[in-house]
Amino acid sequence: MDKRPIGIFDSGVGGITVLKEIKEKLPEENIIYLGDTKNFPYGNKSKEDIIRFSIDNVQKLLKQNVKIIVIACGTATSQAIEILKEKFDIPIIGIIEPTVKYIKNQKFDKVGVIATEGTIKNGAWERKLKDEIPNIQVVNKACPMLATIAEEGKAKSKAGRKVIKEYMIPFKEKRVNKIILGCTHFPIYEQIIREELEYDVELINTGKFVSLELEQILKKNNLENDNFNKGNIIIDLTKQEEQFNVIAQNILDFK
Ligand code: DGL
Repeated sequence: MDKRPIGIFDSGVGGITVLKEIKEKLPEENIIYLGDTKNFPYGNKSKEDIIRFSIDNVQKLLKQNVKIIVIACGTATSQAIEILKEKFDIPIIGIIEPTVKYIKNQKFDKVGVIATEGTIKNGAWERKLKDEIPNIQVVNKACPMLATIAEEGKAKSKAGRKVIKEYMIPFKEKRVNKIILGCTHFPIYEQIIREELEYDVELINTGKFVSLELEQILKKNNLENDNFNKGNIIIDLTKQEEQFNVIAQNILDFK
Protein backbone atom coordinates (compact mmCIF):
# COMPACT_ATOMS: atom_id res chain seq x y z
CA MET A 1 0.00 0.00 0.00
CA ASP A 2 1.40 3.37 -1.01
CA LYS A 3 -0.47 6.59 -0.28
CA ARG A 4 1.91 8.83 -2.22
CA PRO A 5 0.28 10.65 -5.15
CA ILE A 6 0.54 9.92 -8.86
CA GLY A 7 2.20 12.88 -10.62
CA ILE A 8 0.74 13.92 -13.96
CA PHE A 9 1.92 16.73 -16.21
CA ASP A 10 0.93 18.46 -19.44
CA SER A 11 1.51 21.90 -20.96
CA GLY A 12 -2.00 22.96 -19.97
CA VAL A 13 -5.53 21.66 -19.67
CA GLY A 14 -5.26 18.80 -22.23
CA GLY A 15 -3.84 16.32 -19.76
CA ILE A 16 -7.09 16.59 -17.80
CA THR A 17 -8.53 14.21 -20.44
CA VAL A 18 -5.98 11.66 -19.17
CA LEU A 19 -6.62 12.55 -15.52
CA LYS A 20 -10.33 11.86 -16.09
CA GLU A 21 -9.61 8.30 -17.27
CA ILE A 22 -7.18 7.70 -14.40
CA LYS A 23 -9.65 8.99 -11.84
CA GLU A 24 -12.36 6.69 -13.21
CA LYS A 25 -10.13 3.61 -13.21
CA LEU A 26 -8.27 4.29 -9.95
CA PRO A 27 -10.58 6.45 -7.79
CA GLU A 28 -8.66 5.68 -4.60
CA GLU A 29 -5.39 7.16 -5.86
CA ASN A 30 -4.17 10.60 -4.81
CA ILE A 31 -3.16 12.71 -7.79
CA ILE A 32 -1.11 15.84 -8.37
CA TYR A 33 -1.64 17.43 -11.78
CA LEU A 34 0.86 19.96 -13.03
CA GLY A 35 -0.18 22.17 -15.95
CA ASP A 36 2.83 24.05 -17.33
CA THR A 37 0.67 26.94 -18.50
CA LYS A 38 3.62 29.37 -18.34
CA ASN A 39 5.27 27.53 -21.24
CA PHE A 40 2.11 26.62 -23.18
CA PRO A 41 2.00 25.70 -26.06
CA TYR A 42 4.60 22.94 -26.33
CA GLY A 43 3.57 21.99 -29.86
CA ASN A 44 5.59 24.69 -31.65
CA LYS A 45 8.71 24.67 -29.44
CA SER A 46 12.10 23.04 -30.06
CA LYS A 47 13.00 19.60 -28.78
CA GLU A 48 15.55 21.20 -26.41
CA ASP A 49 12.81 23.36 -24.89
CA ILE A 50 10.45 20.42 -24.48
CA ILE A 51 13.17 18.39 -22.73
CA ARG A 52 13.97 21.30 -20.42
CA PHE A 53 10.30 21.93 -19.52
CA SER A 54 9.71 18.21 -18.99
CA ILE A 55 12.72 17.83 -16.66
CA ASP A 56 11.48 20.84 -14.70
CA ASN A 57 7.99 19.38 -14.43
CA VAL A 58 9.29 16.03 -13.16
CA GLN A 59 11.51 17.76 -10.61
CA LYS A 60 8.55 19.82 -9.35
CA LEU A 61 6.43 16.68 -9.01
CA LEU A 62 9.22 14.77 -7.25
CA LYS A 63 9.35 17.54 -4.64
CA GLN A 64 5.74 16.63 -3.89
CA ASN A 65 6.79 13.03 -3.25
CA VAL A 66 4.99 11.37 -6.18
CA LYS A 67 5.38 7.60 -6.68
CA ILE A 68 5.06 7.51 -10.47
CA ILE A 69 5.00 10.06 -13.33
CA VAL A 70 2.44 10.17 -16.13
CA ILE A 71 3.38 12.36 -19.10
CA ALA A 72 -0.14 13.35 -20.15
CA CYS A 73 1.19 15.19 -23.19
CA GLY A 74 1.88 13.82 -26.66
CA THR A 75 4.49 16.46 -27.45
CA ALA A 76 6.51 15.77 -24.28
CA THR A 77 6.11 11.99 -24.71
CA SER A 78 7.35 12.08 -28.29
CA GLN A 79 10.39 14.23 -27.53
CA ALA A 80 11.39 13.69 -23.93
CA ILE A 81 10.31 10.32 -22.53
CA GLU A 82 13.59 8.50 -23.22
CA ILE A 83 15.63 11.24 -21.55
CA LEU A 84 13.30 11.40 -18.55
CA LYS A 85 13.50 7.63 -18.11
CA GLU A 86 17.30 7.77 -18.18
CA LYS A 87 17.50 10.70 -15.81
CA PHE A 88 14.98 9.81 -13.13
CA ASP A 89 14.78 6.68 -11.05
CA ILE A 90 10.98 6.48 -10.89
CA PRO A 91 8.45 4.73 -13.15
CA ILE A 92 7.41 7.00 -16.04
CA ILE A 93 4.51 6.41 -18.44
CA GLY A 94 3.84 8.37 -21.63
CA ILE A 95 0.82 8.26 -23.94
CA ILE A 96 2.35 6.56 -27.00
CA GLU A 97 3.42 3.08 -25.90
CA PRO A 98 0.20 2.05 -24.10
CA THR A 99 -1.85 3.18 -27.12
CA VAL A 100 0.34 1.37 -29.65
CA LYS A 101 -0.05 -1.81 -27.58
CA TYR A 102 -3.82 -1.55 -27.96
CA ILE A 103 -3.58 -0.94 -31.71
CA LYS A 104 -1.29 -3.94 -32.10
CA ASN A 105 -3.82 -6.16 -30.33
CA GLN A 106 -6.61 -4.87 -32.57
CA LYS A 107 -4.60 -5.69 -35.71
CA PHE A 108 -5.37 -2.43 -37.51
CA ASP A 109 -3.95 -2.13 -41.02
CA LYS A 110 -4.50 1.62 -41.41
CA VAL A 111 -4.62 4.36 -38.78
CA GLY A 112 -4.70 8.16 -38.75
CA VAL A 113 -2.74 10.29 -36.28
CA ILE A 114 -3.57 13.88 -35.39
CA ALA A 115 -1.20 15.72 -33.05
CA THR A 116 0.74 18.94 -32.58
CA GLU A 117 3.27 20.12 -35.13
CA GLY A 118 6.19 19.04 -32.90
CA THR A 119 4.83 15.53 -32.39
CA ILE A 120 4.14 14.91 -36.08
CA LYS A 121 7.53 16.34 -37.15
CA ASN A 122 9.25 14.12 -34.62
CA GLY A 123 7.50 11.08 -36.09
CA ALA A 124 7.35 9.16 -32.82
CA TRP A 125 3.84 7.76 -33.41
CA GLU A 126 4.65 6.46 -36.87
CA ARG A 127 7.97 4.98 -35.70
CA LYS A 128 6.45 3.15 -32.74
CA LEU A 129 3.49 1.95 -34.78
CA LYS A 130 5.72 0.58 -37.55
CA ASP A 131 8.11 -1.04 -35.04
CA GLU A 132 5.20 -3.04 -33.69
CA ILE A 133 3.09 -3.49 -36.85
CA PRO A 134 5.46 -3.26 -39.86
CA ASN A 135 2.71 -3.24 -42.52
CA ILE A 136 0.50 -0.61 -40.94
CA GLN A 137 -0.34 2.42 -43.08
CA VAL A 138 -0.16 5.66 -41.09
CA VAL A 139 -1.87 8.88 -42.20
CA ASN A 140 -0.41 11.80 -40.21
CA LYS A 141 -1.83 15.29 -39.91
CA ALA A 142 -0.35 18.06 -37.79
CA CYS A 143 -3.11 20.20 -36.25
CA PRO A 144 -1.23 23.21 -34.87
CA MET A 145 -4.23 25.36 -33.90
CA LEU A 146 -6.27 22.88 -31.90
CA ALA A 147 -4.49 22.92 -28.53
CA THR A 148 -4.48 26.72 -28.39
CA ILE A 149 -8.16 27.03 -29.33
CA ALA A 150 -9.02 24.43 -26.65
CA GLU A 151 -6.86 26.18 -24.06
CA GLU A 152 -8.77 29.41 -24.75
CA GLY A 153 -12.04 27.59 -24.10
CA LYS A 154 -13.14 28.03 -27.73
CA ALA A 155 -13.10 24.42 -28.95
CA LYS A 156 -16.83 24.44 -29.63
CA SER A 157 -16.82 27.82 -31.37
CA LYS A 158 -16.98 28.50 -35.10
CA ALA A 159 -13.18 28.79 -35.14
CA GLY A 160 -12.87 25.26 -33.71
CA ARG A 161 -15.21 23.83 -36.33
CA LYS A 162 -13.49 25.65 -39.14
CA VAL A 163 -10.05 24.24 -38.40
CA ILE A 164 -11.39 20.73 -37.78
CA LYS A 165 -13.01 20.85 -41.21
CA GLU A 166 -9.66 21.60 -42.80
CA TYR A 167 -7.66 19.12 -40.71
CA MET A 168 -10.04 16.25 -41.49
CA ILE A 169 -9.62 16.51 -45.29
CA PRO A 170 -6.86 13.84 -45.64
CA PHE A 171 -8.82 11.39 -43.49
CA LYS A 172 -12.02 11.98 -45.43
CA GLU A 173 -10.23 11.52 -48.74
CA LYS A 174 -8.64 8.25 -47.67
CA ARG A 175 -11.67 7.10 -45.67
CA VAL A 176 -9.57 6.54 -42.56
CA ASN A 177 -11.92 5.18 -39.91
CA LYS A 178 -9.54 4.88 -36.95
CA ILE A 179 -7.79 8.01 -35.76
CA ILE A 180 -5.44 8.41 -32.80
CA LEU A 181 -5.99 11.62 -30.84
CA GLY A 182 -2.23 12.04 -30.46
CA CYS A 183 -2.46 15.24 -28.42
CA THR A 184 -4.24 15.13 -25.09
CA HIS A 185 -6.16 18.32 -25.85
CA PHE A 186 -7.93 16.66 -28.76
CA PRO A 187 -10.57 14.51 -27.00
CA ILE A 188 -12.27 17.88 -26.38
CA TYR A 189 -13.05 17.89 -30.13
CA GLU A 190 -14.43 14.36 -30.35
CA GLN A 191 -17.96 15.32 -31.14
CA ILE A 192 -17.02 17.93 -33.75
CA ILE A 193 -14.66 15.49 -35.47
CA ARG A 194 -17.42 12.87 -35.66
CA GLU A 195 -19.86 15.41 -37.08
CA GLU A 196 -17.34 16.56 -39.65
CA LEU A 197 -16.34 13.08 -40.84
CA GLU A 198 -19.96 11.94 -41.25
CA TYR A 199 -18.93 8.27 -41.31
CA ASP A 200 -18.36 5.81 -38.50
CA VAL A 201 -14.96 6.46 -36.98
CA GLU A 202 -13.10 5.13 -33.94
CA LEU A 203 -11.36 8.02 -32.19
CA ILE A 204 -8.61 6.62 -30.03
CA ASN A 205 -8.38 8.46 -26.72
CA THR A 206 -4.93 7.75 -25.28
CA GLY A 207 -6.01 8.35 -21.67
CA LYS A 208 -7.91 5.04 -21.65
CA PHE A 209 -4.76 3.04 -22.40
CA VAL A 210 -2.57 5.14 -20.14
CA SER A 211 -4.86 4.38 -17.20
CA LEU A 212 -4.79 0.63 -17.95
CA GLU A 213 -0.99 0.65 -18.12
CA LEU A 214 -0.82 2.72 -14.94
CA GLU A 215 -3.01 0.24 -13.10
CA GLN A 216 -0.75 -2.64 -14.15
CA ILE A 217 2.48 -0.86 -13.19
CA LEU A 218 1.13 0.15 -9.79
CA LYS A 219 0.09 -3.46 -9.14
CA LYS A 220 3.33 -4.97 -10.36
CA ASN A 221 5.42 -2.65 -8.18
CA ASN A 222 3.18 -2.75 -5.12
CA LEU A 223 2.50 0.95 -5.38
CA GLU A 224 -1.29 0.90 -5.12
CA ASN A 225 -3.11 2.92 -2.51
CA ASP A 226 -5.68 1.15 -0.34
CA ASN A 227 -9.21 1.47 -1.62
CA PHE A 228 -10.99 2.54 1.55
CA ASN A 229 -11.05 6.23 0.69
CA LYS A 230 -11.52 8.38 -2.36
CA GLY A 231 -8.26 9.93 -3.54
CA ASN A 232 -7.53 13.67 -3.52
CA ILE A 233 -6.78 15.64 -6.63
CA ILE A 234 -4.53 18.69 -6.50
CA ILE A 235 -4.08 20.87 -9.57
CA ASP A 236 -0.99 23.08 -9.84
CA LEU A 237 -0.33 25.54 -12.64
CA THR A 238 2.94 27.31 -13.45
CA LYS A 239 0.89 30.40 -14.39
CA GLN A 240 -2.66 31.08 -13.24
CA GLU A 241 -5.20 30.95 -16.07
CA GLU A 242 -8.71 32.24 -15.60
CA GLN A 243 -10.29 29.73 -17.96
CA PHE A 244 -8.49 26.66 -16.65
CA ASN A 245 -10.92 25.52 -13.95
CA VAL A 246 -13.98 25.93 -16.15
CA ILE A 247 -12.46 23.96 -19.03
CA ALA A 248 -11.09 21.29 -16.67
CA GLN A 249 -14.49 20.92 -15.00
CA ASN A 250 -16.19 20.58 -18.40
CA ILE A 251 -13.82 17.77 -19.37
CA LEU A 252 -14.32 15.97 -16.05
CA ASP A 253 -18.13 16.29 -16.18
CA PHE A 254 -18.49 15.21 -19.79
CA LYS A 255 -19.70 11.62 -20.03
N1 DGL B 1 -1.49 18.46 -24.75
C1 DGL B 1 -0.26 18.48 -25.42
C2 DGL B 1 -0.01 17.31 -26.33
O1 DGL B 1 -0.50 16.28 -26.07
C3 DGL B 1 0.38 19.75 -25.78
C4 DGL B 1 -0.28 20.75 -26.64
C5 DGL B 1 0.61 21.96 -26.72
O2 DGL B 1 1.07 22.42 -25.66
O3 DGL B 1 0.89 22.41 -27.83
O4 DGL B 1 0.69 17.36 -27.28
